[in-house]
Amino acid sequence: KKVVLAYSGGLDTSIILKWLQTEYNCEVVTFTADLGQGEELEPARQKAELLGIKPEDIHIEDLREEFVRDFVFPMFRANAVYEGEYLLGTSIARPLISKRLVEIAKATGADAVAHGATGKGNDQVRFELSAYALDPSIKVIAPWREWDLTSRTKLIEFAEQNQIPIAKDKRGEAPFSVDANLLHTSSEGKALENPAEEAPDYVYQRTVSPEDAPNTPEYIEVTFERGDAVAINGEAMSPATILTKLNELGGKHGIGRLDFVENRFVGMKSRGIYETPGGTVLLAAHRGIEQITLDSGAGHLKDSLMPRYAELIYNGFWFSPEREMLQALIDKSQEHVTGTVRLKLYKGSVNTVGRWSDHSLYSEKHVTFEDDAGAYDQKDAAGFIKLNALRLKLIGNRNAKFK
Ligand code: ARG
Ligand code: SIN
Repeated sequence: KKVVLAYSGGLDTSIILKWLQTEYNCEVVTFTADLGQGEELEPARQKAELLGIKPEDIHIEDLREEFVRDFVFPMFRANAVYEGEYLLGTSIARPLISKRLVEIAKATGADAVAHGATGKGNDQVRFELSAYALDPSIKVIAPWREWDLTSRTKLIEFAEQNQIPIAKDKRGEAPFSVDANLLHTSSEGKALENPAEEAPDYVYQRTVSPEDAPNTPEYIEVTFERGDAVAINGEAMSPATILTKLNELGGKHGIGRLDFVENRFVGMKSRGIYETPGGTVLLAAHRGIEQITLDSGAGHLKDSLMPRYAELIYNGFWFSPEREMLQALIDKSQEHVTGTVRLKLYKGSVNTVGRWSDHSLYSEKHVTFEDDAGAYDQKDAAGFIKLNALRLKLIGNRNAKFK
């Protein structure tokens, strides 16, 4: 039996690795991805080797470009936001990890994949729905749902018995659980579990607090082609480079912090602290360019479908026919979403202050308060209002009758 494990190199997934070897008698292949979490990956290689994984069974990949190009950018074309606030930074990374797990399983002749998500969360659902969609015959091992290492003490004991190195600060309970990638950092659990209490400032890892942000605003320009950002301040950049740059700019100005209580797919509510600096700037910029390039019918339709699309991603249905159908509709809407947005970044806020495009539908000729030289006949509006009012008048008359 052979299993591909999503391996971070941290204590928990190292324990999982050993547990798969000893309790499951599995041959373990490790997969570690650089999704822009800002951690060195070589230590994960060394640790996997130390735990007896053959060098050819250690897979380490830089997926940053694929992550932003094929997952983050398509999602941002929809302006996807879950429950009004959450930019889906963890949700959108899971399908890509699963895709690579399944591909590596095929390439190495493994029949199973394993992950370190708990049985209480969304991540297990996302990993597994993605894996089954891509390979219906794959087996999934989720150790947190199976083992009896149910306390920190038992975990540490198991690590010690199996010569797994434990960093000094990992002996005790971690203060909260962190998941990071190029799009966001999320922190939840433990010290953050009481939603009545403000999170301490040390939770924040990639944004300064708005109070400490520069006192002078910074203006930037983001250029879009067919709904995707392609340049910052006139300089063309790859998708991952753009997001990296927007993260720097947003982080410096304290943009994209969120303290949020959300509904998990498994039924419970959970409180999380999110930092999405670049994503928050990108969302504002994308909305800015859509303002002048999207037709109202197209825009209102895609907006009405957005919550459903966001929920599909949150719930783990990236690889589903309904997500792909919505994506086709959203991508179609972006054909003319090309142009440039000027943004003002200042103390935690990002505002669109200018937008222009060859594809613009904005007509100064029509909207002007000055003489429009016959572009629009104001008399037309009288009939327009009269016919739209007809049914409201009929209802009003009936209401008067039954008062
Ligand atoms: N609550 C967020 C979500 O469901 C973040 C999950 C963070 N995951 C983690 N393993 N810490 O998308
Ligand atoms: C986990 O339970 O592994 C993290 C939280 C989540 O998946 O929602």
